[in-house]
Amino acid sequence: MSAAVPNLTPSQDAREFLGRDHRLFIGGEWVAAGSRETIEVIDPATEAQLTRVAIGGKDDIDRAVAAARKALKGEWSRLTSHERTKLIWKLADELDAHLALASELEVLDNGQPLMIARYSIQAFGSEFLRYYAGWATKITGDTIPVSPQGVRNGESLTYTRREPIGVVGAIIPWNAPLLMAVLKLGPALAAGCTVVLKPAEQTPLTALLLGDLCRKAGIPAGVVNIVPGLGETAGAALAAHPDVDKIAFTGSTEVGKKIIAAAAGNLKRVTLELGGKSPMVVFPDADLSRVIPGVARGAFFLQGQNCMAGTRLFVHRDIFDRVVEQVGEAASKFRLGPGMSPDSDLGPLISAEQRERVMGYIDSGRTSGAELVCGGEALPGRGFFVKPTLFANTNMDMKIAREEIFGPVLCAQSFRDSELEAVAAEANKGIYGLSGSVWTRDISVAHRMAALIDAGQVSINCHAAVDPGIPFGGNKQSGWGREFGREGLEAYLKTKATTVMY
Ligand code: NAI
Ligand code: MG
Repeated sequence: MSAAVPNLTPSQDAREFLGRDHRLFIGGEWVAAGSRETIEVIDPATEAQLTRVAIGGKDDIDRAVAAARKALKGEWSRLTSHERTKLIWKLADELDAHLALASELEVLDNGQPLMIARYSIQAFGSEFLRYYAGWATKITGDTIPVSPQGVRNGESLTYTRREPIGVVGAIIPWNAPLLMAVLKLGPALAAGCTVVLKPAEQTPLTALLLGDLCRKAGIPAGVVNIVPGLGETAGAALAAHPDVDKIAFTGSTEVGKKIIAAAAGNLKRVTLELGGKSPMVVFPDADLSRVIPGVARGAFFLQGQNCMAGTRLFVHRDIFDRVVEQVGEAASKFRLGPGMSPDSDLGPLISAEQRERVMGYIDSGRTSGAELVCGGEALPGRGFFVKPTLFANTNMDMKIAREEIFGPVLCAQSFRDSELEAVAAEANKGIYGLSGSVWTRDISVAHRMAALIDAGQVSINCHAAVDPGIPFGGNKQSGWGREFGREGLEAYLKTKATTVMY
């Protein structure tokens, strides 16, 4: 099998976009990068160069932070919360109006199938913005009945105000580039913050489109600034910047630790959404007609390049062989191909580097004694395609079962114990705690097991349920804080307590 490469010429709109002079979006203008350096943007399905974009260095980050600081105190700070709501809602409308272009650019840049890009940009992009647009008018403090300095009741008033945390640096990865940008922008704007966004060096295109959309939506200049750049330069400069109040980061655990170190200089707030190695636990009474497709999607969605991916499958020994065989069949049926082809269920990995990394893990799986059930190969020819791969009889001493691979590799192991604590102990091994799922028809087992899994989010009879209102984030080394929902908003607010003596 090799990936068919049909003639998939980009649309006129996409060609026009790609043909632009791609600059940095600072203070509401498209400006040249100080260094005049550019990076190549590659289509991972064809390895062809799509375009080149300007990348910012430390000086450009300084300029962007200054623009964000100025905007924080400007017109933006004087808007009513209703006006903020309308602007964020308008941005969502602009995103919907540009859905075709946004989806196509996302597919060309990242590789994901078009259907997934279209669906997710609408369901999680625009709707996520609308969800947070609604929060802008619901940010409230408390009045607190206290008696400071021993004054009598009724002789003082204490209240809290929730204020925007300030200038936010958002550093995001390449696996769902536009969604990642929106996940930071929605709550930041609802809270009244201003933002400097640094997209991943592999996938800058839809972030640049967002610059256009912010202008069209009428978001005041400097409220959103977008600086493509490398992690070690632009990203590091943003994380260390003395005038940035918070970093919102999504990416690897390794870089998350660097962000914390860099943020220590001015003790800026940090939220981190990091790696995962999430368990999917299948009990013998589970409905296999839901388990098989659910587990296959849970593992291989976005080619496994998904922080919530269910990458460790625990199946009760009574049904282990059956489940492994059927998940293997389902995985083998996924059609690999360019995301722009309507016949593709799975696209390529993001880069040659990522393909080598994933293949290295697959080799280690083969030599460590795990049983290869399906996949295990990269496709020959152009594009960074790796077949969905399932290993059975893995255990947590194996590197493939312990480390985040961020590719289409699922590890299966059986359990015999009906002692839930023992099953959970195995499922909770390792440094991560992002997501997890439990598959059973027994309501008690379902809830008890969900409670025992050490993760920020557990789903029952599905994997990785996502909605703007469902808090999302990691335990252990999967992160700090929560995104989505009310907690996701609170991460962009700070509290001021005010007391008046009458
Ligand atoms: P990464 O963590 O290096 O990149 C994520 C973002 O951080 C990018 O914007 C990058 O430019 C930036 N960055 C890199 N070094 C930085 C630094 N020193 N200071 C500030 N920003 C920095 O992820 P990478 O290298 O692309 O992928 C490596 C592995 O990380 C993947 O194989 C996967 O295991 C994991 N990963 C996890 C993600 C998640 O959503 N949890 C997303 C992306 C990667
Ligand atoms: Mg990196």
